[in-house]
Amino acid sequence: MHRAPLPRLDGAPDLLAALRPLCRLCPGAVWEDPEGRHRVVCGDATDSVLVHRTFFGEQSHAGLQPGVTGTEAVQHTGLEPLAAASLAIHDPPYNMAVFEVRDITDYLAWCGRWLDAGDAVLGPDASLYLWLGADQKHGFQPLADVILAMRARNWNSRSLITLRNQRGYGTQKNWMAVRQELLYYTRGEPVFCVDAEYTDIPKKVKGYYKQVRGERLENTARGHADTIRAGNVWTDIQQVFYRMEENVEGCYAQKPLAAIERIIRASSSPGDTVIDFFAHSGTTLLACERLGRRCYTMELEPVYCEIAIRRLEHFRTSGKTGWQGGHAFERDGVSIVD
Ligand SMILES: C[S@@+](CC[C@H](N)C(=O)[O-])C[C@H]1O[C@@H](n2cnc3c(N)ncnc32)[C@H](O)[C@@H]1O
Repeated sequence: MHRAPLPRLDGAPDLLAALRPLCRLCPGAVWEDPEGRHRVVCGDATDSVLVHRTFFGEQSHAGLQPGVTGTEAVQHTGLEPLAAASLAIHDPPYNMAVFEVRDITDYLAWCGRWLDAGDAVLGPDASLYLWLGADQKHGFQPLADVILAMRARNWNSRSLITLRNQRGYGTQKNWMAVRQELLYYTRGEPVFCVDAEYTDIPKKVKGYYKQVRGERLENTARGHADTIRAGNVWTDIQQVFYRMEENVEGCYAQKPLAAIERIIRASSSPGDTVIDFFAHSGTTLLACERLGRRCYTMELEPVYCEIAIRRLEHFRTSGKTGWQGGHAFERDGVSIVD
């Protein structure tokens, strides 16, 4: 197999700096999809003015720098206003050891700022999904703290979903850590299309039965489907690794497309606007493209903005969801040898 790896870009500051001139966005700039569906904003999700201005498309863009394609500036002439979003899927940095760790009070204050910015662009009937980690060596922060902090916000708690990874860590002295946590909240009365969410796992575990008109029925006999519903433990989704088509080299925190598509199918309708303030590899952007939703996504790092945009463009031209064996900057002649 042809293989052109990129190292984890968060651990390669020199490479990140070398890639930035190849990116079309600089901080404050907005990429507007030429096909009119999506926007990618390069900026800080805690900047409520930037979030409001770019997500609601007010005509004034004073203070925003234009985006850059190579060396060519792209002028913004004003963006069309959009309807409020109905779904937020946020996957922020987890405040865990391998990433930047801040004091938990600071981390919660930081979360509060981007949650406030998001609240202002979501409609009254909306769903909010938050991916978070729980550091088992440090009191399960930040998951436990965020759950408590969310009680003070205008959202109803709905579910705590676990996505089961196939690979884990810490097998010698503890239970192997294989879970990723996903909090689900709603406000108002957003859609929830549970019927869309059957897995392909056959319904085969027996032993849970009840009497119906004197007849003992196994659980397998009582539902309409041959497979089980997704529930709040997702064991049927493959963690992304380098041999998968959807793999995006250089990204270190890519969520499986199947998980994001499950959320979008269940909690939005075709044509809805979905927001994601931490784009990284652009999984939500791509999932929205595939499912006929609009995506308005932000990302602090111009290189990840570029990767997200190129991933969408690559899908539109090739039908492929990532770069198995290759990477987003190959067309620029960027080549890294192991
Ligand atoms: C966990 S990753 C998101 C992964 C993404 N769900 C995917 O599937 O690729 C978090 C991303 O948030 C970005 N980020 C960190 N702080 C940010 C901020 N204040 N505003 C916007 N993006 C930020 C990081 O650069 C990183 O790319």
